Amino acid sequence: MILNTELEYKGNLFPSNIIAFEKNLDTLNFTTANGVILQITVLRDSVLRFRYSTTGSFENDFSYAITKYASRGYNHLEVKEENDKYIILTSKLKCEINKTDLRTAIYEAKTEQLLCEDELGFHWEESYEFGGDIVKMSKVSQEGESYYGLGDKPADVNLKGKRFENWVTDSYAYGKHTDPIYKTIPFYTALHHKKSYGIFFDNTFRSYFDFCQERRNVSSFWAQGGEMNYYFIYGPDMSEVVANYTDLTGKPHQLPPLWALGYHQCKWSYYPESKVKEITNKFRELKIPCDAIYLDIDYMEGFRCFTWSKEYFPDPKRMVKELADDGFKTIVIIDPGIKIDHEYSVFKEGLDKDYFCKRADGPYMKGKVWPGECYFPDFTNPEVREWWSNLFQELIEDIGVKGVWNDMNEPAVMDVPGKTFPDDVRHDYEGNPCSHRKAHNIYGMQMARATYQGLKKFAYPKRPFVITRAAYSGTQRYTSSWTGDNVASWEHLSIANIQAQRMCMSGFSFIGSDIGGFAEQPNGELYARWIQLGIFHPFCRTHSSGDHGDQEPWTFGKNITDVVRKFIELRYELLPYLYTCFWRYAEEGIPMLKSLVLYDQEDTHTHYRSDEFICGEKILACPILEPNAKGRRMYFPKGEWYNFWTDEVVEGGQELWADADLDSMPVFVKAGAIIPKYPVQQYVGEKDIDELKLEVYFKLGKETSEVYEDAHDGYDYIKGRYSLRNFTLNGEKNQLVIQQHKSGKYTTPYNTFKVQLHGLPFKIKKVIIDKVEYSIKDLKIDENNAFVIEKDFTDLHIL
Ligand code: GLC
Repeated sequence: MILNTELEYKGNLFPSNIIAFEKNLDTLNFTTANGVILQITVLRDSVLRFRYSTTGSFENDFSYAITKYASRGYNHLEVKEENDKYIILTSKLKCEINKTDLRTAIYEAKTEQLLCEDELGFHWEESYEFGGDIVKMSKVSQEGESYYGLGDKPADVNLKGKRFENWVTDSYAYGKHTDPIYKTIPFYTALHHKKSYGIFFDNTFRSYFDFCQERRNVSSFWAQGGEMNYYFIYGPDMSEVVANYTDLTGKPHQLPPLWALGYHQCKWSYYPESKVKEITNKFRELKIPCDAIYLDIDYMEGFRCFTWSKEYFPDPKRMVKELADDGFKTIVIIDPGIKIDHEYSVFKEGLDKDYFCKRADGPYMKGKVWPGECYFPDFTNPEVREWWSNLFQELIEDIGVKGVWNDMNEPAVMDVPGKTFPDDVRHDYEGNPCSHRKAHNIYGMQMARATYQGLKKFAYPKRPFVITRAAYSGTQRYTSSWTGDNVASWEHLSIANIQAQRMCMSGFSFIGSDIGGFAEQPNGELYARWIQLGIFHPFCRTHSSGDHGDQEPWTFGKNITDVVRKFIELRYELLPYLYTCFWRYAEEGIPMLKSLVLYDQEDTHTHYRSDEFICGEKILACPILEPNAKGRRMYFPKGEWYNFWTDEVVEGGQELWADADLDSMPVFVKAGAIIPKYPVQQYVGEKDIDELKLEVYFKLGKETSEVYEDAHDGYDYIKGRYSLRNFTLNGEKNQLVIQQHKSGKYTTPYNTFKVQLHGLPFKIKKVIIDKVEYSIKDLKIDENNAFVIEKDFTDLHIL
């Protein structure tokens, strides 16, 4: 028989009627008769924060996700009280709070269009087992509403009809719909009636999202502990929602060095040194560009972090230098597990200083990873992060390693249920002590942050480069990432495509997949198709487990090698374009890849599209996802698109066939675009860039393009030493005008542009550059409409 009256409290509890309201600058508190407080903070006219307490007061307000650089400030804030509700007005939003039950509804201020409305709204269950609450929120799903985002979920781009869990998990060989996997990004964007808003549920406990799976007209999210604490972010454009979310959780603190946007080669594992050299030499011999070579766990002595195997790598400093002389940056893996070995200095130091995680009752958190039994640094303690960052001094400053790859930082533990720490493990959490239930989802993020701090310090004056597997919202400030242990299958190629788009739409653009697949082995065709997709991803690396054979560009015979080379060369040509996209992302939070819905949300055809995407602003790409294909059908967003290979122009707003034999891929360029290109190099910096190629795609009408450049590494760009060229193209029936506006103090090493005109509808008679007239002969305009001009023109008329 149940005697304990506490059990009565099991089940959902709800706020009652509002009895008090208080306004303190931008923060509004509504208190109910049963002691619930809703605190709304107006961060910006389009960003509201909702925080609920069921205990009459709030815990210390701390978040790993929110950056201190987030913009704040609004133009208008007004609160009105009516009989049944309070109304908050900003210049963009109107938010109503129901007096009887605390439910909220948010409208666009200008049009009074309903954007987002509570269904049950906030409710909770007391957690008998752990204390605190299980916090819940449900919203009415509006007619035609669709949902996007949520990080690395391997589901279709549109999340409608699905339920997801957020709990960072090592997921070897995950499949489509496996959930959860490596990352927790509890942020989604919603779209209905052509308007988009986003919700970021900043709660690090195990959390869930339901997008109309349980009930057709309800979306909901909840977490197993912590606060109901979410940000409502209004667009109306989805790209603004994502940009505002990225502003809140942070943009990359630096641009990556340009070489990091080059091609990377990895395997588990290249060893000994002679094998590494064999691989790098082969790249140069076959003239396949490559900038980075990775050392996986076998470079260490018994998998002890910050050591080198004397047998396989007797003189790492010399080797790293020789590789660097040949243009290769060496990147090494570092996992969180520190081998229990009383002779091992990192272990001894960690133990002496009390830096390892402990169980609730005092013993160390002991778990098996590659080195055997390990202890794990508590990266949620700033002092531990500082210590960790200093461990990189020798690797980076002395040996010359250029990047660090953080893996297994979910944290992954082998041979235990749940594959991670037990719930009771304690964490410092920046002086807000808590259990692993709260710290789990941010553990990997804090490890990557500590690693980043080390690289930043010791790589200086060069820029740091870090890659992580686990992540929470905000991790994009410190590091790049890959999508974990995928599989060499056609389905996984499609998953990689979606995951990269989704990560970009979740504020994390520096992302790529293990090209070719980590587990199992692709055939040449699959590998070639994967490379074709991969060169359009911000992070471009082949990696494989090595269990099933080799996976280098030359593994699959000459035909495939030629295709792979052709596409990696294209990536190197497009480096200034990709770098400009990265700069835009780092400046404004604009995603580097855009699903079609983000590119044109007004066009409902885009709402369910997953295969096609826009790389940057101007390139439309669509991978071939099937064997034996000669092309595929794909949807073209509205507007005109040039076939990248043939210059044929396609009218968008329809689904059409695109040819793509194995040596090709559907790639299109937006009419009016100006795409900058560098010459093919075997690695960044191999050649002096003595000319910038501008591919100009004619359009009837106006279009703007930009090219961002700087020294490609270092921090001078922050002091204004960058070069930004804004081009405005204006095409008419018999003339084309290109205007250039240049800003920044960096002088690019080249003096001229090679202009290549595409799709010009008239025959050139003359050209006027800054009011000076030139004939075809003067400019040596060739039969393909290419010519060279001085780089600093402001006004170019082609007549
Ligand atoms: C994990 C990583 C993989 C790596 C392997 C060995 O499976 O995800 O990328 O190669 O560990 O370190």
